[in-house]
Amino acid sequence: MTDTTKSATLTINNQQIDLPVHSPTAGPDVVDIGKLYAQGGVFTYDPGYTSTASCQSAITFIDGDKGELLHRGYPIDQLAGKSHYLEVCYLLMYGELPKAEALEDFEARVTRHTMVHEQMHNFFRGFRRDAHPMATMVGVVGAMSAFYHDSTDINDPWQREVAAIRLIAKVPTIAAMAYKYSVGQPFVYPRNDLDYASNFLRMCFSVPAEDYEVNPILSRAMDRIFTLHADHEQNASTSTVRLASSSGANPFACVAAGIACLWGPAHGGANQACLEMLREIGTVDRIPEFIARAKDKDDPFRLMGFGHRVYKNFDPRAKVMKQSADEVLGLLGIENNDTLKVAVELEKIALEDPYFVEKKLYPNVDFYSGIILDAMGFPTSMFTPIFALARTVGWVSQWKEQIADPALKIGRPRQLYTGETFRDYVDVENR
Ligand code: SDX
Repeated sequence: MTDTTKSATLTINNQQIDLPVHSPTAGPDVVDIGKLYAQGGVFTYDPGYTSTASCQSAITFIDGDKGELLHRGYPIDQLAGKSHYLEVCYLLMYGELPKAEALEDFEARVTRHTMVHEQMHNFFRGFRRDAHPMATMVGVVGAMSAFYHDSTDINDPWQREVAAIRLIAKVPTIAAMAYKYSVGQPFVYPRNDLDYASNFLRMCFSVPAEDYEVNPILSRAMDRIFTLHADHEQNASTSTVRLASSSGANPFACVAAGIACLWGPAHGGANQACLEMLREIGTVDRIPEFIARAKDKDDPFRLMGFGHRVYKNFDPRAKVMKQSADEVLGLLGIENNDTLKVAVELEKIALEDPYFVEKKLYPNVDFYSGIILDAMGFPTSMFTPIFALARTVGWVSQWKEQIADPALKIGRPRQLYTGETFRDYVDVENR
């Protein structure tokens, strides 16, 4: 735990309770309420955890006011521009940028774990062809615990390491298989002579009928999209993984829980919902109609890809993603993409509208990602599986950090109860 020289005093029910205050290396001080119920007989109440730190972590730091995202201290724009996804994976997992030899060893270990057990192919055939690939991924990733028993003992540091590598290596293969199954094409095995992003693109788009050459523009853009989605502090899906792992559940089951949580349109499902929204808007002249709907309290419609719990300025990932969208579409010769035009105009109009300015709503990571993925040839149903693929290293890194903490306790929140107090059972004839 960090420095706790400071304290806070809570006065409640005529009782003064001193609470220790922890000072982080960056970000706001944290009031430790761990002993509050024992000392004062009261709970705190914070649905949605808007003011609550669930853990201490050294992996990712976000300053929502400055629009800053650091992975082990390195800013996301520098990592996206100078690093590559597997190096970022190493950084998130082990805390430092690797020397050349360590990086080569890590990449070789991941590469050698990209195949899945051949019997896992049978799982896919149990799903309807039109199943959403996220449904398939939740099922098949969870089923990894039925195949890789030699890396499910969370008390064995070596098994934790193997499980982490297996998840980083195999989730792309499973995501590609989910896509291939959904389009009725044969699965494509990974190849060890391809880099991580190129391997994924080839497993998705290669067919037996002809050779497939990976476009280096697309593989670089794919790798950058993975990097931009790698980790993001204690977001909903990462918190799900942490809560699941606090019970001692195996890492494959925990990551499957994270995938399930990410699927929601308020979270990772927003990239699919955003592109579908941009297509529904269709043309620039219809933007005001949708802006009005987003502002209408009686209309549940929200601008997908806009707003964030933490970023109250810009999402630094969205800035990099927009640059990448311009670059990729330009290099592919589709810069006249109508969807991109609608997105750029929508962003401009929204950022000048008092409603969005006052509520500090800016484009988030999901606003432009779908435009690039669409240009690469992915259906919208594959957008969130790609987010899940990229976020696996974040889930795994946060899981490893939590499991290694000797102070780990099972997560078990309390509640503000508003139901009936004690009453006796009434027989049906007397009701
Ligand atoms: C991700 O947590 C993470 O880090 C997530 C993520 C990651 O990398 O893990 O960054 C990935 O999930 C990005 C967010 C993707 N989701 C969307 O784009 C869906 C649309 N956005 C919203 O649903 C919303 O902005 C959230 C869920 C992202 C944030 O919700 P909050 O923090 O709970 O904010 P809120 O719902 O309380 O909104 C505050 C106000 C509300 O108005 P009032 O009730 O105060 O009058 O802003 C309004 C909201 O109605 N608002 C929006 C809006 N988002 C918030 N109004 C219109 N359009 C929107 N998009």
